[in-house]
Amino acid sequence: MYTEKVMDHFQHPRNVGEIENASGVGTVGNAKCGDIMRIYLDIDENEIIRDCKFKTFGCGAAIATSSMATELVKGKNIREALEVTNKAVMEALDGLPPVKVHCSLLAEEAIHAALWDYAEKHGIKIEGLDRPKSDIHEGEEEEEEEY
Ligand code: FES
Repeated sequence: MYTEKVMDHFQHPRNVGEIENASGVGTVGNAKCGDIMRIYLDIDENEIIRDCKFKTFGCGAAIATSSMATELVKGKNIREALEVTNKAVMEALDGLPPVKVHCSLLAEEAIHAALWDYAEKHGIKIEGLDRPKSDIHEGEEEEEEEY
């Protein structure tokens, strides 16, 4: 059901932890399953993401996607980081089962929330970045999923 890459990132997640005095922190949750993800970004004066760490209280797919998402945003500038969508993360993991797609949305939204936090602290606007949702199900259509 899960690809080798998903299993690898779930069993050996990269970048777990916190960043003290992070440039931006974003926390999002999914009220349906109760899973929560927090992303910390360390951004340098050239707006490059120097480091990224995460803490996820959630399912295996959420842990694998947070791990891959942190790997993908490292070294990118804050605008390029927006290209790390849930689709990009899923592709990098060679796919996720359909019922687990929503888990990858947590990673995308947590990165957006951390970038938003950074932008607010620095009084800048990041083109294409919208105010983050605190619950990824806000404004989403009811899906039929089994838990
Ligand atoms: Fe909740 Fe995966 S994030 S089940």
